Amino acid sequence: MMLRKVLFVCLGNICRSPAAEGVFQHLVNEAGFAGSIGVDSAGTLGYHTGKPADARMRQAAAGRGYELLSRARQVQQNDLDEFDLIVAMDRSNLAELQAMHSAPAGRLCLLSDFLPDRQPLDVPDPYYGGTEGFEKVLDLLELASPAILLEVLNMPGRERPV
Ligand code: 4NP
Repeated sequence: MMLRKVLFVCLGNICRSPAAEGVFQHLVNEAGFAGSIGVDSAGTLGYHTGKPADARMRQAAAGRGYELLSRARQVQQNDLDEFDLIVAMDRSNLAELQAMHSAPAGRLCLLSDFLPDRQPLDVPDPYYGGTEGFEKVLDLLELASPAILLEVLNMPGRERPV
């Protein structure tokens, strides 16, 4: 299969999107597509650049067998052309992405597009809350990931220079 690239985007790239990257990468590996689907995450905010995922998020993820290894980075305009599917965690993240690029080559969408009845519309930011917020994020990511994988597998291939 041709290489497809998926980017998960949140605000800080230390809670929701690194978890999305970890959960989705795990599914991609299990399904045998590790060599053909690229997975990454980024934040609309540059403030946390270089930091590992939030320790609370890493701990909650580890409890479900996911190791979060990514380092925070800010999303670049170039990412909107590089990635085939760009999945924003909430409507505010999506609006930021839309404002960055008039005609991105990749498809912009919300994580909730892949949830039953598209609910909740936004993946709630767990940063200022308690442990249950991190577990809720993981619940939503685990629910959406198989549908995202199907979407990626059904996407028409796009020519990309090697
Ligand atoms: P995230 O959570 O967008 O899920 O990574 C946040 C992390 C940090 C901040 C906001 C949200 N912050 O304002 O520093």
